[in-house]
Amino acid sequence: MQQILVSDLTEQQAADELAQLAADMQAYDIAYYENDAPLISDADYDALRQRNMAIEAQFPHLKRADSPSDKVGSKPSQAFGKVEHKVAMLSLGNAFSADDVVDFVARIRKFLSLDDSQALAMTAEPKIDGLSASLRYENGVFVQGATRGDGQVGEDITANLKQVPDIPQHLSGAVPEVLEIRGEVYMDHQDFAALNARQETNGGKVFANPRNAAAGSLRQIDASVTASRPLRFFAYAWGDMSAMPATTQSAMIACFAQWGFQTNPAFVQANSAEQLIEHWHTIEHQRARLGYDIDGMVYKVDRLDYQQRLGFVSRAPRWAIAHKFPAEQATTILRAIDIQVGRTGALTPVAKLQPVTVGGVVVSNATLHNSDEIARKDIRVGDRVTIQRAGDVIPQIVSVSLEDRAPNAPAYEFPTHCPECGSVAQREHREDGTQDIVTRCSGGLICPAQARERLKHFVSRRAFDIDGLGQKQIDDYWAMELIRSPQDIFTLKQRYSDNPPDIWRYGSGSKDKIGTLKGSAVKLFAAIDAARTIDLDRFIFALGIRHIGETSARLLARHFGSIEGLQSQMATILQGDMLARAEIEAIDGVGNIMVEALIEFFAEAHNRETIEALLRAGVTPQALAEVAQDTAIAGKTIVFTGTLEKMTRAEAKARAEAMGAKVAGSVSAKTDILVAGPGAGSKLKKAEELGLDVLSEDQWIEMATIS
Ligand code: IVH
Repeated sequence: MQQILVSDLTEQQAADELAQLAADMQAYDIAYYENDAPLISDADYDALRQRNMAIEAQFPHLKRADSPSDKVGSKPSQAFGKVEHKVAMLSLGNAFSADDVVDFVARIRKFLSLDDSQALAMTAEPKIDGLSASLRYENGVFVQGATRGDGQVGEDITANLKQVPDIPQHLSGAVPEVLEIRGEVYMDHQDFAALNARQETNGGKVFANPRNAAAGSLRQIDASVTASRPLRFFAYAWGDMSAMPATTQSAMIACFAQWGFQTNPAFVQANSAEQLIEHWHTIEHQRARLGYDIDGMVYKVDRLDYQQRLGFVSRAPRWAIAHKFPAEQATTILRAIDIQVGRTGALTPVAKLQPVTVGGVVVSNATLHNSDEIARKDIRVGDRVTIQRAGDVIPQIVSVSLEDRAPNAPAYEFPTHCPECGSVAQREHREDGTQDIVTRCSGGLICPAQARERLKHFVSRRAFDIDGLGQKQIDDYWAMELIRSPQDIFTLKQRYSDNPPDIWRYGSGSKDKIGTLKGSAVKLFAAIDAARTIDLDRFIFALGIRHIGETSARLLARHFGSIEGLQSQMATILQGDMLARAEIEAIDGVGNIMVEALIEFFAEAHNRETIEALLRAGVTPQALAEVAQDTAIAGKTIVFTGTLEKMTRAEAKARAEAMGAKVAGSVSAKTDILVAGPGAGSKLKKAEELGLDVLSEDQWIEMATIS
């Protein structure tokens, strides 16, 4: 057939031809990548690709979600874009024993106030050891795929996921308009072994385990590499949904299967902790024969309305848990004990081992935790030791073999001085006179290791997250004295604008380029500029204050709304104002230890100066958006007291927080609402004295369900 010139195509003809090209090229791709049996020549395939691109260039609005130009060989200009998850991708809490499982089920029953006569259906399925991915479908067409990332923002790996045969491009049957399927991308044992053999022959990278192989294959800039790797996908959860097709976990999974996804065949329903544990044993026996890696079982509450009520704590759902399989062990020789110095000065002993394979991974380091641990197990250099690894956890030494020990092997002596700066290293004394388990370098910022580690924390992914400024660059720039404190990062460009160091300039290549800034340096400065705008919680977390993790940083950010708010509160506290201190302690989730750590941090002039210098350098922390702004209690502080009869305290608290309220433990002038059940005492009295709104449980429930 004579081809019409692209410029002569009508819109209808263009749309039809694009549809035809998408279908044809998909068939050619399958023949080429999956069946190793190409149907057309490379040249003909390229001609089709050209034609497709030309039509898309002429009619950009007709470009299809399944366009061949987004597939194989097309290299996205930016490695991976960012995708904000509309519904956060969470992690799971762990259970390590049958008791933990019994407790988990009991906790749920209590939270939901179920009595013994009321059933609680659960589900159990293997925990696949791969990488989670979220797949977005609009009107049944796969439009976007993302990694989990930090749970809120992932990487756009659509082009790569399109190469995974288990991931349908189009869903069959009636599906919700918007649908996000979540599950695990993994590689099975056979495919993994074959891939590694191939890699070895071709001189490519040999992967340590199937999970790494899956990860390496998925995060490929060139999606055609992904296409050549045998990846698979199991669907087990969902994100954004325009409509829910079912009311239970198991019915949802059945829908996934109907729509064309692979779901795990070992999925079962269970009605008690005992049944869950029984299934766990069954699968553990089959584990080695499954053909792919699993590291435990995941249990979930079946009813979705229960899941909704149970909600989340921090980053894990209350309605699900991972019941891990026991770790894998091996024996080897302990060659040396190294001491690492962390950002708070903690000296951490690390075992240097003769490399050994444990569960398919080569292990040469193990954590020794602290000096007590070494003494308790009487671990000595030269010992034959049994090490164990469980999932992603750093391997540990579980025991030493005394029979194999040389008679004159000396006991290990923990250093009394910091190996990095020579300052005295001591164990702190707690308030009750006992010794802290951690030995700490007393050198503070004169200790290069501490200063460097603080910088690494400052630029880490959950803190400032600056592209091109990772752990390695911090080490390098530290050594070159380019960066010695956080504020130096933001003055870097200005300080070196006249005379940039050689590492940022072309040293060879075309003559007119020599001496000019390299692209990577230009990118680094742009990334630093972009990082000046940062969420307040990340900013607080980045400061690396002891005991202030992401969750507490977020609580402080929400409470104070600005860095100046936190600074002035701390200044007041440092002047000895106990009321100001009490205000921070009253923030739900912020305890005495954290307040002590904040005081310790803000008492140091150089820490206060660091914050000031960052602000001077143009860093502008942004207040967090309210969780939920359109509810009756958003932004208010609620206190619950007395017995609640229809909703447990935990559920009431979770519900209030989900509606954007703060829940406090005691009544003060800052309290807005007191919910008082029967038996309320002093808190009710105080609330009445202060003239606060006091609600009965029924009034609270009405408020909680309307909003
Ligand atoms: S459910 C809200 N089910 O485990 C709960 N997760 O440790 C979402 N995983 O990030 C997770 N197999 O990557 C669930 N059958 C399974 C799973 C599973 C593996 C992974 C997933 C998640 C991680 C949490």
